Amino acid sequence: MDHQFVLILDFGGQYNQLIARRVRECGVYCEVHPYDTPMEKIKKMNPVGIIFTGGPNSVYDEGSPACSEEIFKLGVPILGICYGNQLMAKMLGGNVVAAEKREYGRTETEFDNSCVLFEGLDKVSITWMSHSDYIKDLPEGFTVSAWSKGCPVAAIQNPDKKFYGVQFHPEVNHTQNGKKMLHNFLYKVCGCTGDWSMGNYAKTTIEDLRKRIGNGKVLLALSGGVDSSVTAALLSKAVGKNLTCIFVDHGLMRKNEGDEIEAVFGNRGINFIRVNAEKRFLDKLSGVTEPERKRKIIGEEFIRVFEEEASKIGEVDFLAQGTIYPDVIESGTGKAAVIKSHHNVGGLPDNVRFKEIIEPLRLLFKDEVRALGTELGLPDNLVWRQPFPGPGLAIRIIGDVTKEKLEILRDADAIFREEIANAGLMRDINQYFAVLTDMRSVGVMGDGRTYDYTLALRGVVTTDFMTADWARIPYDLLAKVSDRIVNEVRHINRVVYDITSKPPATIEWE
Ligand code: XMP
Repeated sequence: MDHQFVLILDFGGQYNQLIARRVRECGVYCEVHPYDTPMEKIKKMNPVGIIFTGGPNSVYDEGSPACSEEIFKLGVPILGICYGNQLMAKMLGGNVVAAEKREYGRTETEFDNSCVLFEGLDKVSITWMSHSDYIKDLPEGFTVSAWSKGCPVAAIQNPDKKFYGVQFHPEVNHTQNGKKMLHNFLYKVCGCTGDWSMGNYAKTTIEDLRKRIGNGKVLLALSGGVDSSVTAALLSKAVGKNLTCIFVDHGLMRKNEGDEIEAVFGNRGINFIRVNAEKRFLDKLSGVTEPERKRKIIGEEFIRVFEEEASKIGEVDFLAQGTIYPDVIESGTGKAAVIKSHHNVGGLPDNVRFKEIIEPLRLLFKDEVRALGTELGLPDNLVWRQPFPGPGLAIRIIGDVTKEKLEILRDADAIFREEIANAGLMRDINQYFAVLTDMRSVGVMGDGRTYDYTLALRGVVTTDFMTADWARIPYDLLAKVSDRIVNEVRHINRVVYDITSKPPATIEWE
C-alpha cells in the first residue's frame, strides 16, 4: 500500500459509512473493520490513526462490544465517537453512567479552541447528539474540551497520548464544522498528508489486477450502469483481450442507450458481446401487468440469456462484479443493523463456470467510483448516469409492455432529460424520468378530439435513494417539457408531474 491508512473500528453505529466517507473526502484512505479485529491484523494494517465508531450499546452492559486494551499501547492516535468515546473513557479508567435525560438532536455546544480538534473553529456551534450515557469521571490524563447544557463532557482529550473523544457525531451534516474536526484529527493529530487520490488508486489497482489475473480469463455482465462500466474500464486497462463483457440488451433501455454503451465499450480492446434480446423479453412480458411478476420475468430471463452466452465461452477463471463499498459495509462487518434491502435484477448465475469472483470496486464509495471512471477516460454521460433500475422501462410502463409503448416512453423521456440538461439541472435533481401511465383521457388537438395516454414526470432529490423529496422543478421548465412532449410524441395528450415524496411513495412507480 503506498498511501496512509486510517482504521475505523465498527461498534455497530448507524453512521459508520458516513465516517468512512468523510475521512476519504478529506483525501485520506480508510477502511471499516469489526471492533474485534485481531490485534495482529491491526498491526499489519499499520494505521496512522484509529477511529472508534458509535454503537447502540451501553459500555457498562454485560457483553457490550469492546476492543483489545492493547490498542491503547500502539502509540497510534485514537478518536472515539459517541459509544467509541465512552468505551475509550471506560477502558482507560473513567466512569460512564446513564444520563437522567437522553440527549438527542441538535445541541448548542461550546468548545475549548485550544484543543487541536477544534482549532480555528467557532467557539459555540451546533452538534448532533444521540446518547443516553455520559462520562461522569474522566480517565487519568484527560481533560474536558467541549460541553453543552445537558452534557458537561461533550469532548475529551489527552494530547500527550493523542487520544481524543467526542460525545456528538462529527460525521453528520447537522454538526456544524464536523468535517473540519475530522480534518483536524487526521491532519494535525495523525499527520495525514492527503495522499489518497483516484489517479494513484487507478494506477496501483490496475497493476494489482494484472498480477492477480495474469493470463486468466475474466467475464463481466455489463449493464451500462456506473458500477459495471467502471469495472469494465478498469479491467480493460488491466487485462485487455482477456476480458469478455456480455451486455444483455433487453430492449428496455432508454433512447439510444444500447448504442451508446456499444460505442464506449465496442472498441476498448476487449471482447464485447452485445446480445440483442429485445424480442425474447417482450415475448415473455406480453400481457403481463403485475409489477412484481414483470420484475421476476425480467430477472430470470436476464440470467438465462447471460448463461447462454457465457456457455459459448466455456469456463472462465474470474467472474467480475461491480460491488461497491456501501454494499460491503452493509453486509460485511455484520455489526450494524441492516436497513436497506437491495433489489437487483437477478442474483449470481448458477450455470456459469468460474473459479473466483473479482470485485475491483469493493473498497470505493459511489463518488469515488465516478471519479475513477473519469480518470479512466469514460465519458461524462456514463460516469454521471443516474440510477436506472435493472428491469428498465418495463417498470415505468404501467400495465402491459409493448414495443409501441416503449417507443412512446423513450421519446417522451428523452425530451424530459434533454430539457433538464439544457437547464443545467442534471446534478441538482438526483433522478428524473418519465412514466407512461395506462390511463387515457380526452383532449383536443387542432380541431379534433383525441383520446390518448397520460404521461407522468418524476424528479427526486435524495442522497441515499432510501428517502426522497420531489424536486421543485421550475414551472416554466415543466411547461416547456409538457409542450414539447404533447407536440412531438404521438399518443400523449396530457402530462402530469408527480409531487409525492418517498415515503409514502417509492421513486419508481412499480
Ligand atoms: P424505489 O422505487 O424503491 O427505488 O424507491 C429506489 C432506487 O432504486 C432504483 N431501483 C432499482 N435498481 N434494480 C436496481 O438496480 C431494481 O430492480 C430497482 N428498482 C428500483 C430506483 O431507480 C431508485 O433509484
